[in-house]
Amino acid sequence: MWISCFFRLQTVDKKGKISLCALQTLILRWKKTARLRRCSQGAAERKGIQMKIIMLGAPGAGKGTQAKMIAEKYAVPHVSTGDIFRANIKNGTELGMEAKKYMDQGQLVPDELTVKILLDRVAQPDCKNGYVLDGFPRTIPQAQVLDKALSELGDAIDYAINVDVPDENIVRRMSGRRACLGCGATYHVEHIPPKKEGICDVCGQNLVLRDDDKPETVLNRLKVYHDQTQPLIDFYNEKGVLKTVDGTVDSKDVFAAIVAILS
Ligand code: AP5
Ligand code: MG
Repeated sequence: MWISCFFRLQTVDKKGKISLCALQTLILRWKKTARLRRCSQGAAERKGIQMKIIMLGAPGAGKGTQAKMIAEKYAVPHVSTGDIFRANIKNGTELGMEAKKYMDQGQLVPDELTVKILLDRVAQPDCKNGYVLDGFPRTIPQAQVLDKALSELGDAIDYAINVDVPDENIVRRMSGRRACLGCGATYHVEHIPPKKEGICDVCGQNLVLRDDDKPETVLNRLKVYHDQTQPLIDFYNEKGVLKTVDGTVDSKDVFAAIVAILS
């Protein structure tokens, strides 16, 4: 492209030489292309950081809240299996209908369904320099599949961040959560309210109480968490990538603790 551009500019010079003006134009164009290329790379890539992060923690611990902030600060995608399932439920897909059966009861969606959608998602080009996984893995077999898929690429998880909140805080938090089924944003009626009551700040859709945030379902989700997901804390601790933060403090302070770890 540059060679053709070079010759095109050269031909407009009546003396048969490259004029100063033509040369300046070429350099300016090259600088502009280089600048655009740099801008299209994520911040993490520019800093040479590989950010493959897993968020661990009980339902309602604040994984989603923190994952969104991490994704924004480090310019890596926020990948939430829960959001992917909810989007499928909203669009009435076959996957959504199947997932809903389990989600409404506070059960985990079977590994066969979950693993495939996750591996497809992280194979997308925007995940090349990293991602924040929110809600995956949730079982030891899911973690093993992810581990294997990454090690086949000579890669591994960099950090597993455990947002620690005791069970007694969870049920109270969940009943106050309001979610946007349009863009996945979450709020809390007391701690993190939207600017206009019941309306999403980001996309303007109505906020709802998620079906699985009703107290009886939350208790079941907590039980499932302790049985099937909590063992992942030991799994990642043994790999030397586990970091635990106190999730009971203000969400900005939780984020500051996470940034200190990632820095
Ligand atoms: P998912 O959507 O992942 O739900 P979850 O893990 O139960 O977690 P939540 O999204 O409910 O909580 P969170 O930790 O993200 O907290 P949040 O930031 O919103 O999964 C839903 C379902 O999908 C599962 O039950 C399962 O059926 C299925 N599923 C998903 N992934 C799966 C997988 N891998 N395998 C199998 N099944 C899968 O915060 C909660 C509330 O607290 C909000 O209101 C927030 O505003 C507020 N808050 C946040 N931080 C603070 C703070 N520091 N102080 C006070 N309030 C805060
Ligand atoms: Mg969440």
